[in-house]
Amino acid sequence: MPRLLDPLTIKGVNLRNRIVMPPMQSGRASFKGEVTDKLVNFYVRRSVALGLPIVEHAYVSALGKIGPKQLGIYDDCLISGFEKLAAGIHSVGAPAIVQISHAGAVATQKVIGVTPVGPSTRDKTRMLTVDELYGLAEDFALATDRAIKAGFDGVELHGAHGYLLNQFFTPLLNKRTDEFGGSLENRMRFPLLVVDKVRRRLGNKLLLYRLGSDDLAPMGTHIEDAVEFALNLEATGVDVLDVSGGMCGSEPKQLSQVVGYFVPQAAAVKKVVNVPVIGVGGIKDPVFADGLVRDGLVDLVAVGRALWQDNEWALKAAQTLAESV
Ligand SMILES: Cc1cc2nc3c(=O)[nH]c(=O)nc-3n(C[C@H](O)[C@H](O)[C@H](O)COP(=O)(O)O)c2cc1C
Repeated sequence: MPRLLDPLTIKGVNLRNRIVMPPMQSGRASFKGEVTDKLVNFYVRRSVALGLPIVEHAYVSALGKIGPKQLGIYDDCLISGFEKLAAGIHSVGAPAIVQISHAGAVATQKVIGVTPVGPSTRDKTRMLTVDELYGLAEDFALATDRAIKAGFDGVELHGAHGYLLNQFFTPLLNKRTDEFGGSLENRMRFPLLVVDKVRRRLGNKLLLYRLGSDDLAPMGTHIEDAVEFALNLEATGVDVLDVSGGMCGSEPKQLSQVVGYFVPQAAAVKKVVNVPVIGVGGIKDPVFADGLVRDGLVDLVAVGRALWQDNEWALKAAQTLAESV
């Protein structure tokens, strides 16, 4: 079995090890969503010994913005900032991936200025028409074009934590009665439409999908649904599955005391797919992370808050593991 420090090549993209920085909104973009020097430094510092840094979610169009100083990738005028970011990450020997997102129903009128959109009409949300869904898929595709133009090695679609793609997957928010709601097959339809559209724009670049694997709610999605979805994502051209939580968010209270709290879901997904799978959840100890790869539970391990707090986490992990051999 491979180890955490072993390299991995995914479709010609070389990762020096299996340590991933998961996307973490840093609040370092400008109010318009532009890349700033502060944001570039945040990633370059942390990417020095990383296998795969995934840049925080960038909104693909105006209604998809969730908060101020969120990174944006909604217009061509933003490409030059992303060029600096990709070049900075590449300069320290890591590939560059950016997560692209739309907040949908979790956006607020205060931030976007109009009623937020989602799969279904609710208190503060307007239901998206089918024409709008095709328009949104194009927004994701255009955002992908910008990332690739800027020199990124691929994109990750944000399909977790209650963002738009996750909102379509979960019966908690998707109450539609057309072909985009109801059965599991119908609830997968919009995310898969986006995946297909983005895949075609990426050529041989990488497509990652952040999968909301469990809503941790009786009427929500469960791992069985996520496993079925993962098979469809793989069949539609996803190269890496980054397994997190669904409507329960990225740090669910029920689980957050458990180290590696979304690893069981990632391991269940890994059993059925052939593409590499990332596990995540409260991981700080490099020996623990190494064990997950050695035991074959996951292919890559994401370390978020520990890496935020200590930008040398990956460097120190490499030293610790080298000494323990
Ligand atoms: C400050 C912060 C910002 C985050 N932003 C994002 C994001 O932009 N996209 C995403 O998919 N997850 C986001 N997450 C979730 C992380 O990627 C990760 O899944 C979570 O923190 C659990 O990993 P950890 O225990 O190693 O920190 C964020 C987490 C934190 C703490």
